[in-house]
Amino acid sequence: MPLLGLGTFKISNEDVKDVVKQALDIGYRHIDTAQMYGNEEGVGFGINASSVPRESIFITSKQRHHMSLDNMKQAFFQTLNDLQTEYLDLYLIHWPNHDKKINQQSWAFFEWLYEQKLVRAIGVSNFQIHHLNDLFETAKIKPHVNQVELHPALNQAPLNAFLKQEGIQIISYGPFMKGGIMNAPFKEPLEKVASKYKISIHQLILAWGQAKGIPMIPKTQTHSRLIENYQTLNIKLNQNDIDAIDAVNRGVRVYTDPDNNPWGIYQ
Ligand SMILES: NC(=O)c1ccc[n+]([C@@H]2O[C@H](COP(=O)([O-])OP(=O)(O)OC[C@H]3O[C@@H](n4cnc5c(N)ncnc54)[C@H](OP(=O)(O)O)[C@@H]3O)[C@@H](O)[C@H]2O)c1
Repeated sequence: MPLLGLGTFKISNEDVKDVVKQALDIGYRHIDTAQMYGNEEGVGFGINASSVPRESIFITSKQRHHMSLDNMKQAFFQTLNDLQTEYLDLYLIHWPNHDKKINQQSWAFFEWLYEQKLVRAIGVSNFQIHHLNDLFETAKIKPHVNQVELHPALNQAPLNAFLKQEGIQIISYGPFMKGGIMNAPFKEPLEKVASKYKISIHQLILAWGQAKGIPMIPKTQTHSRLIENYQTLNIKLNQNDIDAIDAVNRGVRVYTDPDNNPWGIYQ
């Protein structure tokens, strides 16, 4: 999985066509979407409009909700159809259900998709340690990844230590904390490090995640920012500066709390 990807949450189905094509032209090879974003068709269009071959692109999508087996199958094949692809590189359970049996049932379907080679890797998103332990009770295959909110103010060190022990790759979403990283008490210490490298705070955060081996999937639909974010592949931070950014952590979550998520019901 390329360490840097393009997030597409809140980019409209129309706008995303051009954004994905621009990103691929710049060099991005990792696109993150989800059925919930309502833009898979546009992502597929953008990929097709580019000259980059499908096999060079890492595509992630996510199952919208926990559903009956028939409906989950239907949702998955709709995703493939909309993205105009025969397989996904990574498919995720978007949010945990509050009933562990339902997560286990959805996971069995994901294992089936993996065995059928319809997806190259399977994983979860927004799973806490207790959700994973419940999943392990019946799983034949451990999730390959867990995509979670992760930025300097919520560095997820305890969860990541658990995931490393279980051989599960963490992926960061929401690296800019809905703009919150530009507010106190985060901005000042980040600005101090960024100025040493003559880079923006946004670039610093992306370089920090990548230096720790964490794939980062920032969303932007601004061409200059697509380039700015892509340039972070060439930024190397020293360990003292990585530690200084780690120390910014305050355990602040700005996205939905997984344990109280409104999608955690069977639909
Ligand atoms: N699994 C999940 O439950 C989940 C939840 C949330 C997000 N995600 C994924 O993670 C991706 C990223 O999260 P996100 O979209 O919520 O937020 P984000 O990437 O943290 O932030 C996006 C915002 O930052 C701005 N931005 C991007 N690059 C910038 C730069 N270099 N300088 C200044 N501003 C910049 C964007 O503005 P412009 O677009 O206007 O340039 C946009 O307003 C999503 O798109 C989605 O793919 C997954």
